Amino acid sequence: MVKAISLFSGCGGSDAGIVAAGFDVVMANDLLPYARDVYLANHPSTDYVLGDVANIKSFPAAELLVGCYPCQGFSQGGVRDPSRKINKLYLEFARALRAIRPKAFIVENVSGMARANYHHLLDHQLRVFRSAGYRVTADILNSADYGVAQERRRIFIVGIRGDLNEKFVFPAPTHGDERHHARTTIQDAIGNMPEWPEGEFYAREFHWYYLSRDRYKSWNDVSRTIVANPRHMPLHPMSPPMVKYAHNDWRFSHDGPARRFSYREAARLQGFRKDFVFPDTESGSLDMRYKVVGNAVPPPLFEAVARALPAVWD
Ligand SMILES: C[S@@+](CC[C@H](N)C(=O)[O-])C[C@H]1O[C@@H](n2cnc3c(N)ncnc32)[C@H](O)[C@@H]1O
Repeated sequence: MVKAISLFSGCGGSDAGIVAAGFDVVMANDLLPYARDVYLANHPSTDYVLGDVANIKSFPAAELLVGCYPCQGFSQGGVRDPSRKINKLYLEFARALRAIRPKAFIVENVSGMARANYHHLLDHQLRVFRSAGYRVTADILNSADYGVAQERRRIFIVGIRGDLNEKFVFPAPTHGDERHHARTTIQDAIGNMPEWPEGEFYAREFHWYYLSRDRYKSWNDVSRTIVANPRHMPLHPMSPPMVKYAHNDWRFSHDGPARRFSYREAARLQGFRKDFVFPDTESGSLDMRYKVVGNAVPPPLFEAVARALPAVWD
């Protein structure tokens, strides 16, 4: 099997995708103890290094490097400050790239990075990866176009080592109108799950910010984006639809029961397999479960990108 190293690995969404595409993840890394616990419960053979990536002094050999450095600086939910230290973690990825010299790499990040005020940071990333000797391509993909029951637009940066003389072409969308498959709906993804999974969903009140926009989609729709903060998690379709009263003022159309998606439902809407395990460990609070799920890259989307890599492995 072709060996891969993963950085900023979280609970392993991206890595579940590359494993499904046939790679062997020999090393992974993240700061979050619960991300490590979930990862190892599902991929026990990976060497998961817990701690700041900056403290990793050496890396094993690998042909593929993947990494989804954090995105707070660019995301809708985060503080948008291009100068924040968290926005420089791609330099750690570049350090690993120079040390490992894999044949290819894949990076994923929020699509906001392509917005005008951050473009210089995106351009800098592309320049740094090119100067490390890679032919680099970037594009924004929507997970719903690749069979995931969720609208989630993310930027992917893919590099192929220059000496291999190969070019990466992003995979064409497979799901949607006039495509090979219909889009996967919320019903397809979670229709068989319990309607009222006590203890597995965030049950606090719907505060004013939550009600400032429409959080509802029906069973036959694709889900809104799954986020890491449970307070902002979209509504389960058993909830009443929302209606607009005024600018930033949405209300439930009737008084029936309403709830957010549970973390397990969120994981299915991210495209995690049914048998994906969330262990009960000390660090596994409800908020933390939502966080590692919402931070993840949808495995089927990462798999589609990994499968599109040219055959450079022999
Ligand atoms: C977008 S998430 C990655 C999600 C992961 N690829 C997945 O698919 O599940 C970014 C991750 O980077 C981790 N992180 C942030 N700063 C870090 C650092 N200095 N060293 C290692 N990991 C870090 C965060 O804890 C978070 O889990």
